[in-house]
Formats: sequence, C-alpha cells, structure tokens
Amino acid sequence: MIKYHLAEDTIDPKDIDRLVAWLSTYPRLTKSNVTLQFEKKWNNWLGRKYSVFCNSGSSANLLMYYTLKLSGRLKNMWVVVPSVGWVTTITPAIQFGFEPLMCEADPETFALDLNHLEDLLKLHNPSTVVLVQVLGVPAKMEEILALKEKYGFFLLEDACAAIAAKYRGRYVGTFGDMSSFSFYFGHQISTIEGGMVSTDDKAFNDLLLMLRSHGWSKDLDKETHNRLVNEHNIDDFHAPFVFYVPGFNLRSTDLNAYIGLRQMDKLDWIMSRRQENHTRYLNHLESHLYFQKAPEGSRICSIHCAALAEDREQRASIVKALTEKGIETRIFSAGNLGLHPFWYEKNGKASFPVADRIHRCGFFLPNHPSLTLDAVDFICSVVRSAL
Ligand SMILES: Cc1ncc(COP(=O)(O)O)c(C=O)c1O
Repeated sequence: MIKYHLAEDTIDPKDIDRLVAWLSTYPRLTKSNVTLQFEKKWNNWLGRKYSVFCNSGSSANLLMYYTLKLSGRLKNMWVVVPSVGWVTTITPAIQFGFEPLMCEADPETFALDLNHLEDLLKLHNPSTVVLVQVLGVPAKMEEILALKEKYGFFLLEDACAAIAAKYRGRYVGTFGDMSSFSFYFGHQISTIEGGMVSTDDKAFNDLLLMLRSHGWSKDLDKETHNRLVNEHNIDDFHAPFVFYVPGFNLRSTDLNAYIGLRQMDKLDWIMSRRQENHTRYLNHLESHLYFQKAPEGSRICSIHCAALAEDREQRASIVKALTEKGIETRIFSAGNLGLHPFWYEKNGKASFPVADRIHRCGFFLPNHPSLTLDAVDFICSVVRSAL
C-alpha cells in the first residue's frame, strides 16, 4: 500500500467547497469571463503581456509550435529539441513537419547542454530551440540567451513542470518567445487538466487565440477582429463564423479557470513548501546521490525531487526499499526521450552520456505542499538504508 505518494492534489477540500458554492450560483461553465480573469491574473503574476488558457500543457506546446509555423517568420524547419523533458515537448515537431535535432542534457541543470546546443546551432542554423525548465530547476538562462543573441533563433520555453521557479529574480516562463505551463494533477498548481501559453508578442498571441478555437477571430481584441473582417470583406452575419487559420479546439472551461484563480492565491505557500522539502532532501542525500544543480541566484520549485543513483543496480535497490515502505517512486520523467520508440523508429536511437545516465539511474522522490519535513526525513532514511 502506498503511504507516501509522489504527488497529492493541490485542489484541497476547501477549494472544492468554494467550487461547489460557485456552482450553486449556476454560472456559465464554458470558456468565458472567468477564463479571461484567470489569464489576466496569470499575466500580472508572471509579468508577461498575453496568456492563453488551454486544456493541457501538451496542448500549450502544440499551440506554440503551430503558431510559430504559421507565423511565416521561420527561416527553416530545423528545431533543437531536448533529450530530457516530456514526449509532448517534441511530438508537435514531428506532427507539424519540423526537422528535429536532439540535444544532450546539461550535466548540472539537465536542461539543454550548452556545448552540444552551440554545435547544433553552428551546423544547422535552426530557426527554433525548445528548452525545458526541468522539474522546477531553472536552466542556465544567461548562457542560453547569449546563444539566442548570437545565432538568432526563436526560443520555445516549456515551463510545464517549473511553475514559480525563479532565475535571478525572474520567473521561468518569461524567457521564451512563447512559454508553456501545465496545470495537471501533481504539478505546482492544478486546474484538474490545463495549460497556458504566455508571450509578449501580439502577433503570436493573435494566432494562439485563433488556433485554440477552430481558427475563428471571435476571441481577438475588437480592433484586430474588425481588421480581419474588413480585409476579407465579410458581412456581420457571417463574421463570427469565419475561419482564418486551420485551428483546433484546445479550449479549457470557466470551471477549470475558476479552480485556477483560487490555486493562484495559494501559489506563494505552495512554492515555499515545495522549496523547503526539496532543500531538506538535498541536505540529507546530496553527499550520497546526484541531484540537479540550479544556477546561482535561482529558486527551485520542484514537483518531485529527482535524483540519480550510481548505476542501474543501485537504483533497483533504492526502488525496492522505497516500495517496501510504501513510498511511491518512478523513473525520472521519461529518461532520455531519444531512447523511446516514437523517436528511434524514425530517427534511430539518440544516445548521450548525461541523458543516458538519467535514463538508467534517475528516479523520483515525493514532493508536494502537504508532505511534512518529518516525512522527508523518513523517506531519506529509507533511501540511505538501501545504499
Ligand atoms: C516538461 C513537460 N512538458 C509538457 C508536459 C505535458 O503537460 P500535460 O500533462 O498538462 O499535458 C509535461 C507533463 O508533465 C512536462 O513535464
């Protein structure tokens, strides 16, 4: 029986009671004003101009890629993708006909390896680089932004599992030309399912809004909607149902947005609890296991505490000890994505020393706001007993 789960729902009984009280006013539930309020609150908190709420972090990634493709601003279809992240960080590249180039993981942050990234930039001059902020440990942003300046590429920043982590005073998710976030169960905050794309670029925002909802212009600001209507010579009766781009339906609902608004009220507390637990793990286990290292001036906000054992055998002993004590564990995200069939059946296996080690030796330890420091101490004692 599992006694210590990797994650617990951040939607607590009080949140459910509030939701029930709101539902008893019989509000509109499909995407409407509450979604707009959530997007606005998110912008103010994050410090970006535009945000688009959608139904998952994967949908947020899908929207970012397709927006970029339709923007007409790409010089080619090469895109650097990370070996360590999540499958849907990469799959839109395949679905939309990009040419993905897989990059090794940085030995400290586990985000993109700077040397390999620069080699790929020199060799292919890609239009796009996709960066994952790995599990709430910020990437080396100063160096990555310097490469962006030098080589000129669009940066898509997948901050799906890194909400509220900070790099030198700035939230992650403020560095990309577009950035994505996930509000799935177990992430820093949750809207049941949900995702967000944030950007400061109005043209990207207009495309994101249209692509999220069928390709129509109804969600755009009045001026842009009217401009499109006039450009295409459309009468008032047709105007709400004219489709300008080949869109999807990736919307979420006002019900999920209502939950999101309340979750944001708890974000500071959630962030500090996650950070406190993460630091406690490091204090106990840093001299025994390998952990991601955050760049100087960062604030970690992890969804799970990720560690690397010495080798596969040591990982197996730790997993056995944890499981016997009812402590949930699993592999490190997806390990090396280059070793999964969706990638290697077309591109061959992508093998890199750091990403392979994460694949072979990585595992997760529980972290969530309601996990106590005593529980962390106990989990660490179980890990130590297995070493
Ligand atoms: C880095 C990263 N990107 C994208 C996603 C996908 O988010 P979702 O589960 O909301 O689709 C995840 C999910 O854990 C993730 O960790």
